[in-house]
Formats: sequence, structure tokens, C-alpha cells
Amino acid sequence: MNTQLFPGIDWVGYIDWKVRDFHSYDTVRGTTYNAYLVRDRKTALIDAVKAPFGDRLLRNITGLVEPERVDYVVCNHAEPDHAGALPETLAALPNATLVCTKKCREVLAAHVDVSDWPIQLVDGGDTIALGNRTLTFLKTPMVHWPESMFTYVPEEKLLFSMDAFGQHYATSERFDDEVALATTIDEARAYYANIVMPFGRPVANLLKQAATMDIAMIAPAHGVIWRRHPERILAEYANWANGRRRPKVVVLYDSMWDSTERMAECVAEGAFSSGLDVKLCHVRRTSLTTIATEVLEAAAVAIGTPTLNQEKMPAVGALLTYLGGLKPVNKAGFAFGSFGWSKGGAERVDEWLDTVKWERLQEPVIARYRPDEEILTACRAAGAALAARARESAELPLFD
Ligand code: FEO
Repeated sequence: MNTQLFPGIDWVGYIDWKVRDFHSYDTVRGTTYNAYLVRDRKTALIDAVKAPFGDRLLRNITGLVEPERVDYVVCNHAEPDHAGALPETLAALPNATLVCTKKCREVLAAHVDVSDWPIQLVDGGDTIALGNRTLTFLKTPMVHWPESMFTYVPEEKLLFSMDAFGQHYATSERFDDEVALATTIDEARAYYANIVMPFGRPVANLLKQAATMDIAMIAPAHGVIWRRHPERILAEYANWANGRRRPKVVVLYDSMWDSTERMAECVAEGAFSSGLDVKLCHVRRTSLTTIATEVLEAAAVAIGTPTLNQEKMPAVGALLTYLGGLKPVNKAGFAFGSFGWSKGGAERVDEWLDTVKWERLQEPVIARYRPDEEILTACRAAGAALAARARESAELPLFD
């Protein structure tokens, strides 16, 4: 495995092949916790790993340098998948000083006792000279925690970007040109949709700063390193952070006795006739991770549910809670579904569309018990209208 970014700069992290649930994110391809060692006249470790894997991090470090030679441990982000192994790491590196922002120290102290740690506080724009290389720090609040920070090495035009631009993607290869680009983009999209999406505005501001920097390589805290295609992932982030819509329709639904499923199929059928990209997802057969990823770039989304006890189905409730937190923007949509003797399901979804400020294209399409041909025709027409709205509101992605 090639772990060298540049002579003297190496990946020393851990590949987590088996993780499948990352605080409810379905990590179907596992993940990596990336840490990097910068060796110059002084040596700096950039980030650590998740607590159970601290020994592997230390093994990778000591394969390259004596532990006494490590002068700095930079903490770009205090979340435990990166900072969890800091206590073990600092204990094993006797001459190392932790480098972090004041906010990061505050967040770390809420997790572990840092009172005995040697800490050097840095602010945005501060630098640490290592010899022929310099570490420059850039505060990135709410991308995606308040204490988040990037570390930039101007001599190599190398950006250590912690979670930003990352992917939950376990692979023995460390660089984007060693794996299929489409897979890396898919995983970066899923990562953005499920972790970063609520923070579109700070990300957009950050990208404006990044546009003023000379960046040749982006080394995130998860997944592969952007060595060949850094401009591609920067453009994708600009698309996602600015809520740019593709001509794509997503139909999400749950069903009890196939009535709402039949309606969903007809909504999708109406949308198919447009020739656009259409996805039909049963919410109990599709993970929330996948649904959020599908919704990210879609211009139009229909959501269907039967009424259960005057409410939406529980899985639809979970979906709305999850999407409501992620705050996908710039969508048009409508609700649909069946009921028996009392309404409520589709109506709750309809109300939710207003709470997330999606454009509400029409009143809910509702069927009593079984959808008759008239209702199914209305579903097809609603699907066609949804697709037409998706086509007219879609924007060209920035990298095409
Ligand atoms: Fe990979 Fe926000 O931690």
C-alpha cells in the first residue's frame, strides 16, 4: 500500500473494514480514520483515530519515526472518531504538544481530562514552522462541528481537510487515482448528504476561501486522498452546498396493503414519461442513508404514506425526522397516500413540506382504501407535473 503523499508526508491512519453503522449512517463500504505524519526538522502528527485503533496508529507512526521525535499533534476536529485515541497517542509521544484552537480544547475537555496535556492554542491564520514546511491553520466553524479546523501546508499546496471532502470508504488504496472515481464520488456524495448537508452555508463560505488558496492535494480524515481530482470534489461541494438541483425525481413511500404502493408506482410512471432520472424508494426497504443521498441532488420529491392511527407510518415519521434535520433545500414536492376511515397520514406529510420550506406543488393525492382508476390517473398526472417542475428548475452542475 502506497501511503506517501510527498516525501516526508505519510498516511498513518486505520482502515476500518467492518464498521457498518456509523452513528446510524449505513457505512456499506466501511471507512478509514486518516491521520498523517509530516516529518521535517520538526515532526507533526495531523489528527488521530478512533479510540480502539490507537495502537495501530502508534504502530504506523513508530514505523516511520522514534516516538520521542514527534513534536506536535494537531487536532483539527474533536469528534471521537478522530480524537478518541488522543489520550493514548499523547501518552506514547513524550515530547509532543497538542495543537488546537481554544474551541477545540473546550470540546475535547468535555470528553476527556485534558488538564495535564501540553497544549499550544492556535487561531485562524497562525502558522507553525516545521523546517522546510509550514503548518497554517484555517478555522472552519460548523464544517461540521464548531471547533473544526483545516491545516494547510503551502509548500506542498496540501490541505488536511478533516471530515470535509471525505468518504466512508475502506480501501487498501489511499489515493483517488488508484480507485474508481465514480465510486469515490458516490461515497463523497453520501458523506455530504448524511453528515455535511445541514451546514451548506458555512461550507459555501469556506469554498470561497478555498478558491483563493492554491490547492494541489486534499487529504481528508476519511476515505481516499484527492491527488488527481481535487478540483472535482471542490466543484461537487459547491454544487451540494449551494443546493444545485439535477433534473431528478425521487418518489418515497411506505405502504400497508399496497394501495399507497400502487399510487407511488403511478406517480413514478408519470415522472418516467419525462425521460428524467426517477428513483422509487420504499422507505422500509431503503436505508435512510441512501434516501438522503438520493434526495440531495433531486429537484423534486414526492412522499407517500397510508394513514395509520390518524398519522403517517412510523418509517415515514423517521424519514421526515431525519430529512428535517439534514435540511435539504430547493426541492418541490407533494404528498400522497391512502386512508380507511380517518385521514391524517398524507396530511402530516403535506404539513411537513411547509416546515422544510419545499415548494408545495399541489394538494395531497388521497385514496380511500383502494385507489380507483381516477385516483391512479391523478397520480400519473401529479408525477408528470413533478417531473416537469424538476426539469424547469434544474441547474447545470458546476463540473459538467
Ligand atoms: Fe469524522 Fe466529524 O468526524
